[in-house]
Amino acid sequence: MALTLNRKYIEGFVGQVELDALADFVSAAHKKIHNKTGAGAEFLGWLDWPSGMDASELARLEETALKLRETADVLVVIGIGGSYLGTKAVQDLLQPAFNLGGVEVVFAGQNISGRYLDDLLMYLEGKEVALNVISKSGTTTEPAIAFRILRNWMMEKYGEEATERIVVSTDEAAGALRKTADEAGYTSFVIPDDIGGRYSVLTPVGLLPLAVAGIDVRALLKGAEEAEKALSASSLEDNAAYLYAAYRQILNMRGYSVEVFASFEPAMAGINEWWKQLFGESEGKQGKGVFPASVIYSTDLHSMGQYLQDGRRMLFETMVSFVEDQAKMEIPFDDENGDGLNYLVDKSLHEVNQQAMEATAMAHVEGGVPILALEVPKIDEYHTGYLLYFFMKACAMSAYLSGVNPFDQPGVEQYKQNMFELLGKPGYEKK
Ligand code: PA5
Repeated sequence: MALTLNRKYIEGFVGQVELDALADFVSAAHKKIHNKTGAGAEFLGWLDWPSGMDASELARLEETALKLRETADVLVVIGIGGSYLGTKAVQDLLQPAFNLGGVEVVFAGQNISGRYLDDLLMYLEGKEVALNVISKSGTTTEPAIAFRILRNWMMEKYGEEATERIVVSTDEAAGALRKTADEAGYTSFVIPDDIGGRYSVLTPVGLLPLAVAGIDVRALLKGAEEAEKALSASSLEDNAAYLYAAYRQILNMRGYSVEVFASFEPAMAGINEWWKQLFGESEGKQGKGVFPASVIYSTDLHSMGQYLQDGRRMLFETMVSFVEDQAKMEIPFDDENGDGLNYLVDKSLHEVNQQAMEATAMAHVEGGVPILALEVPKIDEYHTGYLLYFFMKACAMSAYLSGVNPFDQPGVEQYKQNMFELLGKPGYEKK
């Protein structure tokens, strides 16, 4: 089993009767997803993407990645939202916490900070650099600004050779970025029309930079393909993604309106951000939606732990844990035992961390926080692919259960309109 939803901490909060009451709604939403009849159905391309990705396009992507690996020390991924969070998530989870060599993947265009770009340009000085600019619409302001600046920098540094070092991922035909790519002769990849940004990590959006970083993208896709199969079951009890979605909705209806996504693994930091975008942008509309928050324990037990244990009771937690001890780090014996830690000597850090998790879960349940415990056998490409697909499927189900379109983001437009007005963009006259 590549992922298990352990119900031991939720059973005291949500009973079988409540789940049974949702069963018909789940099967109706399942039909909407699989028969493509629900709101936003034209964005369900991610559903069978892992099993259906074009083999020759995958091979071309790997060839391009290999070429960039041979010529670059640093790959700058330029993108925002769904165009970078998936890459960052997988990279954080699978790569060592500290740079041990290989091509480093860094990000730009995910903010409008001059300070950040200035620091980045200083960092790139003296290094061999490649760019992967990613924007489905090809018109998003933040990455467009970063690309203009970095592209100029690349032209100054490399002249004509810059063309070989810039790869574009965008729509097949539409948008300014497609035009630029075609005119400049950059290698390019297509972001499928029927896959929205936050569901796109397994397309070239994530796969190209991850392959450049040295991640086995075929194993990532394999894990996702396994999830595609396993999570195609229509019934609540046979489908862990649906069960997770159903619990979320039941808890939400009962006033638990904030979901705290928690793990005891700092490498989950990027997944936390990706998960928040996925659920926040998919469900937060029409005055509805569980507010997605995240923590990394035990670090955050020393900051947010007090609130979780004892603050307003509108929280539930989703705790992700990894079963296998992959680091095998032991606590050494000390003759003096001045720190009093010799009682831990025959335990690994993994065991101590697991006990910290168990202790936290018991305390939080006691404090009135329902917990959904997701157990993953280990951290590798395969299980990461499975996990990503699990959450995408769960998110689609959860949004349909609450009656919203999981695939649009009308609310994101409001700030853009205002910003364009304030900046005097032609066509956006002041109201
Ligand atoms: O999930 C989404 O659709 C968004 O977060 C987009 O990914 C984000 O706004 C970036 O859009 P684009 O790739 O068109 O630049």
